Amino acid sequence: MMADVNAKTNHAIPAPASGPGTTLEKPVYDPTAPSAIEVEHIVKKYGDFTAVDDVSFSVKEGEIFGLLGPNGAGKSTLIRMMTTLIPITSGRALIAGHDVAKEPNAARRLIGVIPQALTSDLDLTIEENMSIYAKLYDVPAKERKKSIDELLELVDLTKWRDAATKTLSGGMRRRLEIARGLVHHPSIFFLDEPTTGLDPVSRVAVWEMLGNIKEHRKLTILITTHYMDEADRLCDRIAIVDHGKLVALDAPMALKASVPGSNVIEAQFENPPADWEQRLHTLDAVTSVQHEGAGMFRVLTGNGSRTTTELVEMAVTSGVPVKSLSVQNTTLDDVFVHYTGRQLRDELQKAYAFVMPQRPGLQP
Ligand SMILES: Nc1ncnc2c1ncn2[C@@H]1O[C@H](COP(=O)(O)OP(=O)(O)OP(=O)(O)O)[C@@H](O)[C@H]1O
Ligand SMILES: [Mg+2]
Repeated sequence: MMADVNAKTNHAIPAPASGPGTTLEKPVYDPTAPSAIEVEHIVKKYGDFTAVDDVSFSVKEGEIFGLLGPNGAGKSTLIRMMTTLIPITSGRALIAGHDVAKEPNAARRLIGVIPQALTSDLDLTIEENMSIYAKLYDVPAKERKKSIDELLELVDLTKWRDAATKTLSGGMRRRLEIARGLVHHPSIFFLDEPTTGLDPVSRVAVWEMLGNIKEHRKLTILITTHYMDEADRLCDRIAIVDHGKLVALDAPMALKASVPGSNVIEAQFENPPADWEQRLHTLDAVTSVQHEGAGMFRVLTGNGSRTTTELVEMAVTSGVPVKSLSVQNTTLDDVFVHYTGRQLRDELQKAYAFVMPQRPGLQP
């Protein structure tokens, strides 16, 4: 496996502990490998509004494929169409060769789905939640216990099996739902934002669980997220979706390499003059500059060290104090800005400002 030369250097999310199941292999994409999922020119319209707009991609067997995009991008709508939950307006989706519109039952037998909202029953124990699902999916009685035991072990919930679900933390409940979604041995697993709302440690725990599961079961995973670091660490390939359209699709490293500039300088200045953004643009090797407010600038450059030296010299000769300065490799944030013209985090903040309060007990 190639080393990830773009690995981030200053990151808020702790790296997973080393050990079996924590480092996910990222295989090189093989277009000739069999497809687990094929999506061809798929469209979803609600009246005049197009929620998903002519999206095509294929997910190869054994891949972890990420759909990355802001709120309202169309991620859940895509998953709902692929998993037979809502009709497709035009185009088609195939699950292991089965057209979901023509052979929904054949497709359903092969998939596990973890919807965005938590759906486990709060009044039941962990084991009861698992067991009901296994019965619903017609898992033969003699296989049920074995499957439940194995999955609870993989998501590290064995010792809580008799605990009432309402007593679990958000992260544990997510892990229960992941285990429950696999109880009937699906080969293709859809997870819609499995870590949204979890604290960083619980998020990493979920990633580790998925790694564990993939080591024990032959599984193709399609996961949606709006966390860049999660997509980067977890996914073999990432499709960036924005306003219902697929705007970029590749391996995380290739996406980062596709953005002009290889380093990002984040610098905060005290009272920068009005033309500071333009002046930063003139520094050697700079490909783009974004003013993020409060004197903070994000500068993309093809040569981090040379630009940093020039930037500090310019600040000193112009009498503009530098309050903070960091240099890092390009991240998926820069990829998102490059392909959409916007910061993903700004989009999320806008959306969260209007989020309805959650029903008590349903969220971590
Ligand atoms: N049943 C519906 N009727 C009308 N519009 C809908 C319906 N479901 C979704 N939409 C709209 O389609 C767009 C895509 O929604 P979707 O839920 O797929 O986004 P998402 O990427 O999953 O976002 P989030 O990150 O918030 O979950 C949004 O603008 C949404 O308001
Ligand atoms: Mg969604």
